[in-house]
Amino acid sequence: MVTRQRPQPAEIFELMRFKKPQLDRKRHRLDSALTIADLRRVAKRRTPAAAFDYTDGAAEEEISLHRARRAFRDIQFNPGILRGVGDVDTSCEIFGGLSALPFGIAPTGFTRLMQTEGETAGATAAAAAGIPFSLSTLGTTSIEDVRRANPHGRIWFQLYVMRDREISYELVRRAAAAGFDTLFFTVDTPVAGARLRDKRNGFSIPPQLTARTVLNAMPRPWWWWDFLTTPKLEFASLSSTGGTVGELLDAAMDPTISFEDLQVIRGLWPGKLVVKGVQSVADARKLTDLGVDGIVLSNHGGRQLDRAPVPFVLLPEVLREVGADTEIALDTGIMSGADIVAAIALGAKFTLVGRAYLYGLMAGGREGVDRMIQILTEEIVRTMKLLGVASLGELTPRHVTLLPASGR
Ligand SMILES: Cc1cc2nc3c(=O)[nH]c(=O)nc-3n(C[C@H](O)[C@H](O)[C@H](O)COP(=O)(O)O)c2cc1C
Repeated sequence: MVTRQRPQPAEIFELMRFKKPQLDRKRHRLDSALTIADLRRVAKRRTPAAAFDYTDGAAEEEISLHRARRAFRDIQFNPGILRGVGDVDTSCEIFGGLSALPFGIAPTGFTRLMQTEGETAGATAAAAAGIPFSLSTLGTTSIEDVRRANPHGRIWFQLYVMRDREISYELVRRAAAAGFDTLFFTVDTPVAGARLRDKRNGFSIPPQLTARTVLNAMPRPWWWWDFLTTPKLEFASLSSTGGTVGELLDAAMDPTISFEDLQVIRGLWPGKLVVKGVQSVADARKLTDLGVDGIVLSNHGGRQLDRAPVPFVLLPEVLREVGADTEIALDTGIMSGADIVAAIALGAKFTLVGRAYLYGLMAGGREGVDRMIQILTEEIVRTMKLLGVASLGELTPRHVTLLPASGR
């Protein structure tokens, strides 16, 4: 039998919690995004289709990207209990320096296309969070301007070796002079992967105003306002003649690069030399024997060879072969802090995020990148606590079981 009473106005009043409306619409938009997938949805709404698809898309049938994301989900976490996890330490050492978190911002080309603040937003947000920022050879902000935006933090330079070698070597010298501490030599791009979304969208650099792009622009006037009222969108270190990104890559990159180029670059670069885009145990062994300081297991976010190995799945085998001799970082498919924790538990020293960063950027410029870092940080901390570990060093492969369904 339920006992009832007359509603008491004072009690109702106590229950009322009307929040002050958030008048800053950008803040509201970003605060409402609770996951990287939410940021992606905001980014999609705010960015013209061709620019969004250039970022979001991958090569051919996009199988590599799909599998990489799925592999992170097809795991089981095995927690420990009663471990005293009041405070957790998310910092780590990587390539001769510190990072406050076990991830950094991956190098991405043509970043101001996504949102006009581009690399400056990435570099300043990374500085504020104490994590490394990587600048691409195909960046839209110069080496020196990125250094000015982030004068004291760790900045890494990503190198593509071009047909005109001297252009590449000059970039390496400039990055060294600007105090970048690590060089990523990207080796998975002898030719451009087939980014079919770009072809279907008629996407070109610089962007062209066709009837379709104008129509698509109508609901996204802020992007076009930024595009038309800020300095011209172009590569900071490369002159381009126009065309699709694939055509530009094919015209600029040298498909004949080989292991010999590694020695030349080693001679030019005083800092840590890391090869990005390693996809087999044999290549990892060879590079380690050649004395590189680290490797990044990566298939370029699925944007190059479709059906390439999933870095997260390849990791244990590579670790067994070279883990004691070199540092192994990993990227491709990371969409949450739990993905990062899983990669570190399996033995990666560090991870990089590409699209997660760009979704944040497209969703809200610098503040959007801050929000991306905040979301990943909260997920990392929460996952560590729930696993019962207080520092990254306590994570072990025993914390992760790869379930049979993963993308192998
Ligand atoms: C839009 C875009 C542009 C990229 N440009 C470059 C680049 O110029 N150089 C490079 O080494 N990798 C580039 N990448 C690959 C990233 O560095 C990284 O390997 C990849 O994004 C990781 O996968 P994720 O996007 O799933 O995090 C690019 C990735 C994206 C999404």
